[in-house]
Amino acid sequence: MERPASPPSLTALERLVQERPLPRHVGIIMDGNGRWAEMRGLPRMEGHREGSTSVREVTRCARRVGLKALTLYAFSSQNWARPAEEVAALMDLLREYLESEREEILDNGIRLNAIGEVDKLPRFVKDPLDRLRAESANNTGMVLTLALSYGGREELLQAARRVAEAASRGELSPENLDGQTFESYLWTHDLPAVDLVVRTSGEQRMSNFLLWQMAYAELCFSEVLWPDFRTEAFLRCLAQYQQRERRFGLTSAQVKREDSQRAKA
Ligand code: FPP
Repeated sequence: MERPASPPSLTALERLVQERPLPRHVGIIMDGNGRWAEMRGLPRMEGHREGSTSVREVTRCARRVGLKALTLYAFSSQNWARPAEEVAALMDLLREYLESEREEILDNGIRLNAIGEVDKLPRFVKDPLDRLRAESANNTGMVLTLALSYGGREELLQAARRVAEAASRGELSPENLDGQTFESYLWTHDLPAVDLVVRTSGEQRMSNFLLWQMAYAELCFSEVLWPDFRTEAFLRCLAQYQQRERRFGLTSAQVKREDSQRAKA
């Protein structure tokens, strides 16, 4: 009798993921820190703290498998309205992260980037953030973007405002505004297209994350809470992505024809 195939080991899974085409850019909505802590009778902040260990593990894994861009939704425009002590503790944690990960980021060829209204961050976060951005600016291994004080609508609004300003100065005529030009006004203008968005904790919504950029992104909703979302859970999302057929509005037959033409060329 045939034995059911056992699931691949972690290293085998990692190898499988590395062998297939990777998404150019992965965005992650890191959700479930609060619930993770509450389930253990701990203050919510402990969930965020454990979540920063997941940030480290997932970043390491992304770099190892050869991902070129990873964007983490670390603090939304709407998160400012959380209880003041939670906001303050998150800011402390971000500062700690920027200090403790500095060496690893620099040693591993990672460029640290940030999107969002970063000028709203307190100086004790903004200063080390700017320093690490500058220090890592020439790294080309992977770009790690922290979405901080970030909102997709806020990003689109600032882009629309700047487009209107350029038009009123006569530098841009409305009929020449196409998708590519508009994208150059987004905070993500220097990042590759987002191919995959992951959300942890079983919630299935986008919460104002990369609204323009996710137009054709594949979505992966994981039941795992962010503090428990480590290498294996991340690899499973990448493997799931690699099983998807991306159609961009075409039919499946058209996509297959294009793929075989590309393979022959
Ligand atoms: C959402 O979970 C998570 C956040 C608002 C903060 C994310 C922050 C971290 C993962 C740690 C710090 C980040 C870095 C880059 C070091 P939630 O609090 O809404 O969870 P809940 O839905 O269970 O309440």
